[in-house]
Amino acid sequence: MDAVRRQFPYLRAKPQPVYLDSAAMAQVPDAVLDAVNAWEQSSRSNVHRGMHERAEASTIAYESARSTVQTFINATHADEIIFTKSCTEAINLVARSWGEQNLHTGDAVVLSILEHHSNIVPWQQLQERKGIDILWVDMDDEGGLRYDQLETHLQSGRVKLVAITALSNVLGTAPDLPKIISLAHKTGALVSVDAAQAIAHMPIDVQELDCDFLAFSGHKLYAPTGVGVLYGKRELLQSMPPFLGGGMMIRNVTTEGFSPADLPAKFEAGTPPIAQAVGLAAAIDWLKQYSWKDIQTHEQEILQLTIDRLKSIPALHILGAAGNFQFSIFNFQFLHGCLSFTLSSVHPHDLTEILGRKGIALRAGHHCCMPLHKRLGIPASNRLSVGIYTTKEEIDACVKAILEAQKKLHP
Ligand SMILES: Cc1ncc(COP(=O)(O)O)c(C=O)c1O
Repeated sequence: MDAVRRQFPYLRAKPQPVYLDSAAMAQVPDAVLDAVNAWEQSSRSNVHRGMHERAEASTIAYESARSTVQTFINATHADEIIFTKSCTEAINLVARSWGEQNLHTGDAVVLSILEHHSNIVPWQQLQERKGIDILWVDMDDEGGLRYDQLETHLQSGRVKLVAITALSNVLGTAPDLPKIISLAHKTGALVSVDAAQAIAHMPIDVQELDCDFLAFSGHKLYAPTGVGVLYGKRELLQSMPPFLGGGMMIRNVTTEGFSPADLPAKFEAGTPPIAQAVGLAAAIDWLKQYSWKDIQTHEQEILQLTIDRLKSIPALHILGAAGNFQFSIFNFQFLHGCLSFTLSSVHPHDLTEILGRKGIALRAGHHCCMPLHKRLGIPASNRLSVGIYTTKEEIDACVKAILEAQKKLHP
């Protein structure tokens, strides 16, 4: 762990920070900062337009970042990788482009109650514009999805798309994607996966999953902010209209109109996030030195310890699966990256503020999941999230501070 933490400038600080907010944003290692710095110093130039040496170096770096992402998620073609500014923008691209073109009054999109607002609002905007229906899939008490409801929705024959998270950013539960994708495809519905959280905690193979779209952000994967990725199956992306208009997304422009460029340029209007894409590729290369097995074993040990410790705190309630399972039978295929909890009579914002003053970073609020919190019957919760660098000492420090805060607020 020391060797991992030493690679993160923020985690080298003294006193050592207790950073349990990686689900909001992971920290960046030196390797990523160095790669971005190297591009700034030796290649900084716009891509796909200059003929000079720097422009070529920059274009090569940018396109090589695309290949790195392609390999990382095992996409068939590099042009199935579209760089966006974020996961949110990638989902909006699907809704605005594919959705506007393919969804009509009476069609339905299925969402789960676990979704982040980024995977709700773009579909609600489409509902307003196109008169489509949104059909919701509820969860069971352990944060698992009600697959029976999904099947009922799909049997209606109206569902054109299932937009689903690969990992809840509140409960840490991972829906059974292969099952969902197979059920949806049997009825001819497409599946768009929100992998914002999953991307840093589990291997993702888009060919094996057979998902139609998949979106994520760099900043939760130890990469810079300002870059996201949309994966789409090539034939789908080819058939979709451009999302944003501007430079570089065209084949031809006249005073009468324009014709769009081929993939991936069609969806990358204007100057793309070049430095950020280079940083994302560096983060992926950096992460690849560790095996997924080691990463998952470590994070799951930490989560197991967290549950163990939190359960000993009186009046603390862990939400979803983590709160209900017994350790001995705990299925960690089901839980990754984070968990959330409430503490009786203590508002989450009060708790995280007190912890924050002690240098302990947790997140409080609805975590951009208001429908899920409504379903849970609470306005807000505290979220503790882990990453490759999280230590047992951090969990111990956090639990100690929660106990102290509890005593202070309710002596
Ligand atoms: C599950 C999930 N989806 C989507 C997003 C949106 O990601 P971004 O804000 O990077 O676009 C987040 C961010 O927290 C998330 O946790």
